[in-house]
Amino acid sequence: MRGSDVVKQGQEQSQSQGSSSGQGTAVAAGSRQRVVVASNNAGKLREFAALLGDAGFDLVTQGELGVPEAEEPHATFVENALEKARHASRLTGLPALADDSGLCVRALQGAPGVYSARYALRAGGEKSDAANNRHLLAELANKTDRRGHYVCVLAFVEHADDPEPIIGAGRWFGEIAEAPHGDHGFGYDPLFYLPDQGMTAAELSPDVKNAVSHRAMALRNLLSQLKERD
Ligand code: IMP
Repeated sequence: MRGSDVVKQGQEQSQSQGSSSGQGTAVAAGSRQRVVVASNNAGKLREFAALLGDAGFDLVTQGELGVPEAEEPHATFVENALEKARHASRLTGLPALADDSGLCVRALQGAPGVYSARYALRAGGEKSDAANNRHLLAELANKTDRRGHYVCVLAFVEHADDPEPIIGAGRWFGEIAEAPHGDHGFGYDPLFYLPDQGMTAAELSPDVKNAVSHRAMALRNLLSQLKERD
C-alpha cells in the first residue's frame, strides 16, 4: 500500500467514527476511540487490548493499515516511542500508541538499553535472543553487581503534532542470572532473575508475567493518565 493510500484509509476510518478533521481528534465522550498501535507483535497487542479495551479504546495494528515500521534512531526509550507513535498517527490520521522497551543493566551503564533487540548484532554477532543472552553473560563475566531492570515506555498521541503526548513508563527490577533458566517469555527472560519469586521471568507463567511486567506497569500508568485527561 502506498503512503497516500494509508493516509486515506486512516482518515476514512477516523471520519467514520466521528472525527471530521482527519487529525485523530478524540471522539465524543461515551463513544469508543479507534487507536492505531505502532507494533505488529500479537502478544503485545493482546496485552494492550486487555487493559485499554475496557477503557473505551478499539485498537488496530499499524500493519493492518499498511504502515511501514518507523526507524528507532534515538538514544532514549521515550524518544523512540514518541517517534513511532507520531509516524503511525501521521500516516493514518488516527490517534496512536507506541512502545519501546528493553533491558538496562547497572554494571553496563544501562546497556543493552535501547539496543536490546540488536545487542549481539552490534557487537558483530547475530540478531537473535540466544546470541543476545550469550553476549550479556560475556559482558557481565567479571562483574559482581548483576542488578538490572526492564523498562517499557509508552507514548500516546492524539495526532502527529500533538504538543501534549501522554507518556507511560514501567520498570521491573531483577538480577541477571549466571545461566539461563525457563522456557516461557522471550528475549532476556531466561536470564532475568526475580529474587522475590526465586525464579527467572522465563519460569513465570505467561499470565503472571503479563500481570506484573514492565509493560503491564507502563500500561496502567498510561491508563491512569488517560483517565485524568477526560
Ligand atoms: P521492543 O520494544 O519490542 O523493540 O523490545 C526490545 C527488546 O527488548 C526485545 O527484543 C528484547 O530483547 C527486550 N525486551 C523487551 N521486553 C522484554 C521482555 O518482557 N522480556 C524479555 N526481553 C524483553
